[in-house]
Amino acid sequence: GATSLARIPPSVLRTHNKRDDAWAAFSGKVYNITPYLAFHPGGEKELMRIAGRDGTKLFALTHAWVNVDFMLDACLVGFLVPEPSS
Ligand code: HEM
Repeated sequence: GATSLARIPPSVLRTHNKRDDAWAAFSGKVYNITPYLAFHPGGEKELMRIAGRDGTKLFALTHAWVNVDFMLDACLVGFLVPEPSS
């Protein structure tokens, strides 16, 4: 359920930037995009540009009409949160 979803700061998101372990954030939600890579109509290479990053802007530039929330619902990992201050 929603209560078990993780709170993920950018420093943690950044570590998931590999082909076999790729996460990306869209509008505050973090998704595991690894299983979708092979299915992306725009290709794996394009999608890997946002691995480990916030892809909100690039996504809006390429296809604002596509619904990520709907498509990747099963791949939701958690929510992007600010870096904890030290
Ligand atoms: C095409 C999904 C991220 C670049 C598409 C299409 C879908 C899709 C459904 C087909 C759209 C259509 O035909 O109307 C997604 C999802 C993403 C994602 C779910 C995030 C998880 C990205 C990113 C980029 C990108 C970050 C660019 C860096 C493209 C391009 C096409 C495309 C260039 C056009 C391919 C073509 O028609 O030749 N994507 N996309 N996508 N996507 Fe993505």
